[in-house]
Amino acid sequence: GSYKLWGGMFSEEPCSALRRLNDSLPVDCRLFREDVRGSRAWAAELHASGHLTAVDHRDIQAGLDKVEAELEAELSQHGRLVDSAEDIHSAVEGRLRAHAGAAALRLHTARSRNDQSATDTRLWMLGALEAVQRELKDMITVMLKRAELEIDIIAPGYTHLQRAQPIRWSHFLLSHTWALRDDVVRLKEQTGRASRSPLGSGALAGCALGIDRRRLAQRLGFRDVTPNSMYAVSCRDHVVEFLNTASLCGVHLSRLAEDLIIYSTQEFGFVKFTDEFSTGSSLMPQKRNPDGLELVRGAAGLLMGDAFAFCCVLKGLPSTYNKDLQSDKELLFRSYDKLMQCIKVASGCIDTMSVDSDKALSCLEPSMLATDLAHWLVRRGVPFRAAHHTVGAVLRRAAELGVDLQALPHAEYVAICPEFGSEEELRSVFSWEASVEQYTTAGGTARAAVQDQIEQLKAWLAE
Ligand code: ARG
Repeated sequence: GSYKLWGGMFSEEPCSALRRLNDSLPVDCRLFREDVRGSRAWAAELHASGHLTAVDHRDIQAGLDKVEAELEAELSQHGRLVDSAEDIHSAVEGRLRAHAGAAALRLHTARSRNDQSATDTRLWMLGALEAVQRELKDMITVMLKRAELEIDIIAPGYTHLQRAQPIRWSHFLLSHTWALRDDVVRLKEQTGRASRSPLGSGALAGCALGIDRRRLAQRLGFRDVTPNSMYAVSCRDHVVEFLNTASLCGVHLSRLAEDLIIYSTQEFGFVKFTDEFSTGSSLMPQKRNPDGLELVRGAAGLLMGDAFAFCCVLKGLPSTYNKDLQSDKELLFRSYDKLMQCIKVASGCIDTMSVDSDKALSCLEPSMLATDLAHWLVRRGVPFRAAHHTVGAVLRRAAELGVDLQALPHAEYVAICPEFGSEEELRSVFSWEASVEQYTTAGGTARAAVQDQIEQLKAWLAE
């Protein structure tokens, strides 16, 4: 038979369209462990504060064990729960009634689904925050491994997608690694705010039976309790923070994906993805498409959409609990799943791709040393603005003669500006290696500065 949480006053059932709109079990069944955990702690607290006898407490705990095992089995077998309950909270309580008898009727004492659902979601989020951090750290480890291995590969660096200056390939990889590092820091920072127990807030007013909310929170592994019962059942800011960080992380992965997609084109050809991370065309047999990274790039848009969607839901809601809030879990789970998949795929692509260092080198051209030439003059006392113009004149002269900067005769250089110095001295500028090695300042692309970034990130990972 069906176990009802409410309806004593009602003479009719909700219509089927409302049931379908209202029922959240297909989504929140994912919270079954958290719901059982919260119920165990709640029962223990009711008992400890004298609202539940030892016998009832024992029956409830034993019943919850059975409920958890039953839900676990059902979900792993069918991927869903065959249950007429409207949400996971009703499903757990309904099943507890079957396993624990009359004691089950006492579990919901002074508890509301409002504080219960908020608690379950926060408990789940704490696990999710950890899991995303772990996944990102794994990806960072992969990137660091490559950065270390490929520190001597020199590649073109771009601004506006125009050839700009030579850089170490590792420096490029690390530029994305640092963004992911900051995402981990963000997730860690928001953990403290998520780790507050709403239990004992009731529907909105608090708990009329004396219980110890701190002891209860501790039992559940929360760092703190929510400070106001109305705020507790109302607040979904931790969900917003998660969705926002997921969006930003999505943006980071998307930009990385875009770089690698471009670099994998025949026109660039710096990287090639393995079969495992490529897909083919149904029509064109020669195609090797970077679909994985394209999906990662697209996912950023979906993540941003979910973050925005949830803010739209929250905006203008009256205080405390309103059913609009129920959509939090759908968006949270969806974003979490998408983000985790994206991190895994992006990480796998990077782990397994091959880098064609010759192709990268072949895309460097002497004009990318124009900035170095200006610095060369600056070191010889020429004001930078004048040096910039002088090198501009050199570029123009080289274009007139149809040669590149390296092939431009030395006489032309000194005719434009005597400070360019002797032919032998000037020749030393035309080395990719020498170029990148000038950028020794912290955060630069010189070998030591890149190595230092790697060490910093490794130390951070080991923290
Ligand atoms: N399933 C709801 C949610 O996830 C919790 C139920 C609260 N129901 C209520 N009538 N106040 O948000």
